[in-house]
Amino acid sequence: MYSKEMLESIKKVEATREERIKAVLAGNHPRRMTAEEKEQVLLENHPDHIKEQFKELTIGPNKGEKVPLELADLLQANPRIKPSEIDLSKIDYDVDVLIIGGGGAGSAAAIMANENGADVMIVTKLRHGDANTMMAEGGIQAADKPNDSPAQHYLDVMGGGHFKNVPELVYKLVNDAPICIKWLNDLGVMFDKEPDGTMVTTHGGGTSRKRMHACKDYSGAEIMRVLRDEVQNRKIPVVDFTSAIEIIKDKDGKAAGAVLMNMETNEILIARAKTVVIATGGAGRMHYQGFPTSNHYGATADGLVLAYRAGAPLLYAHTLQYHPTGAAYPSQIFGALVTEKVRSIGAQLVNCDGEPFMYSLETRDVCASGVIRECRKGKGVDTFDGGKGVWLDSPMIDILHGEGTIEKRIPAMMRMYLKYGIDMRKQPILIYPTLHYQNGGIKIGENGMSDVPNLFVAGEAVGGIHGENRLMGNSLLDIIVFGRNAGVNAAKEAKSMNAPEGLTLGHVDSFIKEMADAGIVTDKVSPKLLPNYARKV
Ligand code: FUM
Repeated sequence: MYSKEMLESIKKVEATREERIKAVLAGNHPRRMTAEEKEQVLLENHPDHIKEQFKELTIGPNKGEKVPLELADLLQANPRIKPSEIDLSKIDYDVDVLIIGGGGAGSAAAIMANENGADVMIVTKLRHGDANTMMAEGGIQAADKPNDSPAQHYLDVMGGGHFKNVPELVYKLVNDAPICIKWLNDLGVMFDKEPDGTMVTTHGGGTSRKRMHACKDYSGAEIMRVLRDEVQNRKIPVVDFTSAIEIIKDKDGKAAGAVLMNMETNEILIARAKTVVIATGGAGRMHYQGFPTSNHYGATADGLVLAYRAGAPLLYAHTLQYHPTGAAYPSQIFGALVTEKVRSIGAQLVNCDGEPFMYSLETRDVCASGVIRECRKGKGVDTFDGGKGVWLDSPMIDILHGEGTIEKRIPAMMRMYLKYGIDMRKQPILIYPTLHYQNGGIKIGENGMSDVPNLFVAGEAVGGIHGENRLMGNSLLDIIVFGRNAGVNAAKEAKSMNAPEGLTLGHVDSFIKEMADAGIVTDKVSPKLLPNYARKV
């Protein structure tokens, strides 16, 4: 239900709608920004450019680089354990490949490690599938249509990422994309298809071709359903409610397992492994700069902490993604994702006066900055607690594509709003950027290995694939491409070696000493595992 003031503003949106629709049908969208305009809107409005929100790291592999304040506090926090108190001779789990994280990347890695003959185990701090993958909505990119090519996809990814992306990783991302769609389809993912079986594809922000494959607007849930089934079918063990809280190394400094903690009893367990894959996802629940988030409950940057303490450098940890369209109203869904697909299929961004103030499918960082700028200019709509938002004119979708399109293509969105008395088929919805993704993460090579031997990384915990800004649909893609890649290579490496010897947490001792030498005194403990507002038991 909207307030009186909101309803007044909606009248203005309705008053301009016919003209705007005519313009769209004539091929006249609001014009795209020039490169200079983009740079300016980013510099002046994107949260990544607020200097006071960043802090220089004083220890570890990225010493001297700036990262968000909250992340710096985690990377330079006290470990959860005293290494001297941990008995590494009492091994609870002994496997070839240990996968930390039970989302899409971890599951894809586990399936491929198993496929390649490894004895693999997943450990996850919540339940298998409790992850950002499950919450992904809009789709997964792959250049598999005749008018498209991986080369075209490559250029879009590089442009979207401001050409900061690691080229070899982008090359792998776009070239493996069609294989991965086929793999998922063969496993049973129910992609949207035309009656003749052709996959339905749409645009995302910054795509030059329609290459977004989707399962309505719950693409991630559908993909996770199938991956989880496949893990279960293969009888891959999954240890739920158990966190990895430190990487273990062997006598040669290679990753050789992890110290685990049972989340219900706090019992410490030791997992020895020939290779380890970190697939712990992102950091939305850190609420950088006080932003709400579209992220799943466990997104607290754990993998970055584990890897950093083990000596693995991070790449682009200073860049975060604020999804342009988080729900700004009602308060019950504040920050929840309003999928980009809503704009892909026709909804326009308009201000409180019903004016379309920018092209709605600019890349995400530009689009989010444009929304923030419009609100700063006083052209936003007041929400609650002093918040603002702009309209996403959703009724345009059914007008442009026929009645029933919203219900058919974005049913989850429609239901989410109907719960609060808002029918997005008839009324626009209010949006504002929400913390969505960490563009940066742990540096890896083409084989998925970090700079710590035998420590592999996949999914959102990786940095470099997306440069400084990811495009829609390339996250579901990267968890599959790099999850599979990590699984294959972790298995291959594991098969070439004997069980690791001389298990040690010496690197954790060294880290503690480095903190002391740098004069860091803190009561913060990491990995964080759960957000600040988690219920204490
Ligand atoms: O808008 C969305 O559906 C989000 C997709 C993504 O982050 O890739």
